[in-house]
Amino acid sequence: HKVVLAYSGGLDTSVMIPWLRETYGCDVVAMIADVGQGEDLQAIAEKARRSGASKAVVEDVREAFAREYAFQVLRAGAVYEGRYLLGTSFARPLIAACQVRVAREEGADALAHGCTGKGNDQVRFELAYRALAPDLKVIAPWREWDLRSREDEMAYARARGIPVPVTAEKPYSVDRNLWHISYEGGILEDPDRAPDPSMFQWTVDPSRAPDVPEEVTIAFEAGYPVQLDGRQMAAHQLLDALNAVAARHGVGRVDIVENRVVGMKSRGVYETPGGTLLHVAHRELESLTLDRETLHFKEMVAVRYAELVYYGQWYSGLKRALDAFVEETQRHVTGTVKLRLYKGNVQVTGRRSPYSLYDHALATFGADGVYRQKDAEGFIALFGLPQLVQSRLEARLHEG
Ligand code: ARG
Ligand code: SIN
Repeated sequence: HKVVLAYSGGLDTSVMIPWLRETYGCDVVAMIADVGQGEDLQAIAEKARRSGASKAVVEDVREAFAREYAFQVLRAGAVYEGRYLLGTSFARPLIAACQVRVAREEGADALAHGCTGKGNDQVRFELAYRALAPDLKVIAPWREWDLRSREDEMAYARARGIPVPVTAEKPYSVDRNLWHISYEGGILEDPDRAPDPSMFQWTVDPSRAPDVPEEVTIAFEAGYPVQLDGRQMAAHQLLDALNAVAARHGVGRVDIVENRVVGMKSRGVYETPGGTLLHVAHRELESLTLDRETLHFKEMVAVRYAELVYYGQWYSGLKRALDAFVEETQRHVTGTVKLRLYKGNVQVTGRRSPYSLYDHALATFGADGVYRQKDAEGFIALFGLPQLVQSRLEARLHEG
């Protein structure tokens, strides 16, 4: 038997390697997906081997992560509960897809992940496994083993000669990729207590950001971000560049209480520097290029789309159907948006598109009198008819 484990290099997934071997008598292939977590992944692969993995595979999926996952959620305008930009949520289905690919190459018969039994991530991994490889067995060691604490895990590791962390554990859990860093758990569990300023690894404290604002221009093509300040870049490079400038100005911090898919509320803190710029800019370009009805309908779709992504339903029929809708809406979302960054804030200072509906309307107004003010009188009379009828009824009721 052979299992492919989504391996991070942390204590949990390192302990899982000998645990899987001993419990299931199987070989363990460690799959490390490069989603831009900015760690030494070759060193992490080496650690997997030293922990007993028969093989460790590093898959660089940064470009797919940026373009097919992050930018697709961006084009949908999906933001969970109005604030969370979903950086961990859409990473999971991609990592799961990598695991399935490796499992096929290796002839494995099972998949395993390091998520706890209380969170969202287990749901996302396992719904993706079901969609992509329903024949493979799923193992979630956290839900099975009887290691109850970090001390238990350290003892388990030491007894097997597995490298244990020398640095103290962070008092919260961190997940990093090209799109965001998330922090939750531990001392963050008190929603009334602000995080220590030293927790933030990416963005500068807005109060310490430069006193001089900076302007950036982002170009989009069919809803995909393609250029920064006139320079064409691959999706993951563009995201890198946007992250750097936004982080410098303290843009993209969010501190929220969110509803987990497994039922409880949870406090989360996020840094999403480049992604925050992209959402502001993309929404702005849509305000210029989408007609009112499509724009308003798309706002509703975005709410549902965010739930699907958060709940782990990435590979589902409804997600595919909504993607087709989003695709159609993005045909004309091409153009540029200028943003001014200053001490944690983002301001739109300009927007332009060859498909601007705003320009079109202006041009026809003056020229041939498409809009005649006299027409507004009849429009208002009919549009306001229900109000008139209701108000007459209210008046009759008060008389009687
Ligand atoms: N609450 C966020 C989400 O559900 C972040 C989860 C972070 N996951 C982690 N393994 N640290 O998407
Ligand atoms: C976990 O519980 O494994 C991480 C947090 C989450 O998935 O929501």
